[in-house]
Amino acid sequence: MSEPIRVVVTGAAGQIAYSLLYMIAKGDVFGPNQKLILHLLDIPPMMGVLEGVVMELADCALPLLAGVVPTADPAVGFKDVSAAFLVGAMPRKQGMERKDLLSANVKIFKVQGEALNNVAKKDVKVLVVGNPANTNALICSHYAPSIPKENFTAMTRLDQNRAQAQLAARLSVGIDRVRNVIIWGNHSSTQYPDAKNATVDGKSVVEAIANNDYLNAEFVETVQKRGAAVINARKMSSAMSAAKAASDHMRDWFAGTKDGEFVSMGVVSDGSYGTPKDIVFSFPVQIKDGKWTIKQGLAVDDFARGKLDATAAELLEEKEEAMAVCAAE
Ligand SMILES: NC(=O)c1ccc[n+]([C@@H]2O[C@H](COP(=O)([O-])OP(=O)(O)OC[C@H]3O[C@@H](n4cnc5c(N)ncnc54)[C@H](O)[C@@H]3O)[C@@H](O)[C@H]2O)c1
Repeated sequence: MSEPIRVVVTGAAGQIAYSLLYMIAKGDVFGPNQKLILHLLDIPPMMGVLEGVVMELADCALPLLAGVVPTADPAVGFKDVSAAFLVGAMPRKQGMERKDLLSANVKIFKVQGEALNNVAKKDVKVLVVGNPANTNALICSHYAPSIPKENFTAMTRLDQNRAQAQLAARLSVGIDRVRNVIIWGNHSSTQYPDAKNATVDGKSVVEAIANNDYLNAEFVETVQKRGAAVINARKMSSAMSAAKAASDHMRDWFAGTKDGEFVSMGVVSDGSYGTPKDIVFSFPVQIKDGKWTIKQGLAVDDFARGKLDATAAELLEEKEEAMAVCAAE
């Protein structure tokens, strides 16, 4: 059994964290032999609720959980952490414009980037879940210049899991038989869920489904709008599935992907697949020894090209707005 690592979850009193903390603390992310000290960061008004979460974690009687540090101070929350799940963000309130939401979140991720820069381990792996996730990750990295840009990622794994589930249902097969579905671009309604490189039992999903109209329209829209469908039904946003996706993302980042498989992560673009550099764009990645690389050489047809360009344009616009807020600070 190795020394405990420190792992922070922000938004720790919120609904995603309520599922995610349990998954992390029972070993789903860092494995059954890795002890953990969980840092729980939230804002001062939530400290009472957070105390309840701390009680429940104790009552789970989890052998891997070596300590819990609840706090509202980013300097304490990010101290010496090896992994950071940035879940907490300002939710969209009634009457709030997209720009207002972006501006409120830029401020949060600036503070958290600075705190990571000052007190986290230099090889910390950061996953941003709080929306707008891609641009929040970019801002966070911008304010943490002593940590490599590659260590900041945004979550599109929930979209990938949704896409995989849709294809498995369509093909009437188990979820584990469908592989290599890709989410390109922004974690927003402009994302492009791409089944064209996906396989079922190693064979092409395109050939197995044999219905391009479905793959280009209904499939794409169902995945893009799945979050709204869950809100309509549950009256609250996706939480259990978001937590599972965050746990999948970080597990694969630490443990690696299997040979021949790739997963989707929002990472800083190097211009691959004709995308603009220096935006956080979701790409198919392969992971080895804790480092991701963008999977190269996949087919991008004209239909996909249009989708990639549209989601990139949205990310450039978000980046410009976010940088304007930073400059005005
Ligand atoms: N990337 C994805 O796929 C994905 C999926 C689902 C939800 N989300 C996003 O995840 C975020 C969290 O969702 P939720 O359902 O848990 O929300 P929630 O409102 O239940 O919880 C959010 C928590 O964050 C806290 N918080 C706010 N500002 C903070 C700050 N500066 N520092 C620390 N904590 C702070 C709040 O107090 C609250 O406890 C939202 O932004 C949501 O849009 C992303």
